[in-house]
Amino acid sequence: MAHDHSTPKPATLTARKSGGLQGVARTPGDKSISHRALIFGGLALGKTEISGLLEGEDVLNTARAMARLGAAIVKDQDGLWRVTGVGVGGLAEPDDILDMGNSGTGVRLLMGLVAAYPFASFFTGDASLRKRPMARVMKPLAEMGARVIARQGDRLPACVIGAAEPLPIDYTLPVASAQVKSAILLAALNTPGRTTVIEPEPTRDHTERLLRYLGASVRVEEQNGARIIAIDGQPELVARPIAVPADPSSAAFPLVAALLTPASKLTLPGVGLNPLRTGLLTTLREMGADIAITDEREAGGEPVGDIVVQTSRLRGVEVPAARAPSMIDEYPILAVAAACAEGITRMQGLGELRVKESDRLAAIAQGLAAVGVKAEINGDTLTVHGRGKAPGGATVAARLDHRIAMAFLVLGGVADSPIAVDDAHMIDTSFPGFVALMNDLGAAIS
Ligand code: S3P
Repeated sequence: MAHDHSTPKPATLTARKSGGLQGVARTPGDKSISHRALIFGGLALGKTEISGLLEGEDVLNTARAMARLGAAIVKDQDGLWRVTGVGVGGLAEPDDILDMGNSGTGVRLLMGLVAAYPFASFFTGDASLRKRPMARVMKPLAEMGARVIARQGDRLPACVIGAAEPLPIDYTLPVASAQVKSAILLAALNTPGRTTVIEPEPTRDHTERLLRYLGASVRVEEQNGARIIAIDGQPELVARPIAVPADPSSAAFPLVAALLTPASKLTLPGVGLNPLRTGLLTTLREMGADIAITDEREAGGEPVGDIVVQTSRLRGVEVPAARAPSMIDEYPILAVAAACAEGITRMQGLGELRVKESDRLAAIAQGLAAVGVKAEINGDTLTVHGRGKAPGGATVAARLDHRIAMAFLVLGGVADSPIAVDDAHMIDTSFPGFVALMNDLGAAIS
């Protein structure tokens, strides 16, 4: 089964108008942190106990890959995942292809991890992942001494032959990408000396936080808005319990559904509030959303809190390009909110959306057009003409993209006529139980 790409039968789902959404929406664990918890747990000495792990396909593929690299990973009766690490420098050559499924994060982080080990690792993924560019990680990893051979130059399948004597580098990120930053920091772990990553635009810092939490020396300096991240190689990572917060990128779907559906009020407990992830909350509040945050606290080195959201009248806003890294996965659902707002919403700096699980820029614009919402793309800018409601009455192509599928099912819940999504099986990559949860809250998805 390791690299079986027989895709499950397409699952068409249809969302219809429903009454208000009410109750407590417990959304699954953060995808970014879940990948990292398994990877760093696999390196730490001792047993890392992980609570709240996202059990979505993307993360399960990372668990399988870490097991092939030598970590012992089990889910126990008590619901906790326990990872017995091998120590930095202790990974073993995998005896089969590492199939990362749909996950760009999984493959890019692991390519970085193995780049500083003197063995060969083969990677592949599903039809969506095999289209995505890997040059962004291949370039810095080559500078550190790894060799990467990839189909068509930088597409999966790819083979990473790790460096026997990896070199520390100073690298300025040419794209704002936490995946690329993390790949370099992971390679730096088994590299003697100090590796430095310079981020002109800050991106999510879960890698830095978790590495520090487990005992690595990671120093971050800010200079004119840029971040300079320096890590000392060959640290001893020591196992500590990791509590994974609820994923703000998943919470975004019920949250926006509640804003748009009349007579709704939802509580979303324990959601991650890392300031490098909260661009959507900022934007929705500017649009007029009634969102309250209570009981702010820390868990596993990350800020979390409970979110209370109520039906709100939204108006169109300008979303600046500088905000894109802090809400990069939220544009599909923001576009849905914008469609139901009054007035124009202009979102700038969306170039990276073209290389996500699908070309999300095109997928959003075509989906909106199909359901009767006026939207246009101009370079890297998406403009949505909100009219307070959406006509609906169409089927939207999900393009192997979980977030496109969920966003349009949310829109279907408030559109004049139902909206269908042609293939919703990818939702399981990040949000298993999405349909059941939404229907429990009052939605009508079948
Ligand atoms: C992620 C980084 C982002 C994001 C992805 C998760 C991560 O990708 O879109 O869902 O966990 O590091 P990029 O780094 O490519 O922007």
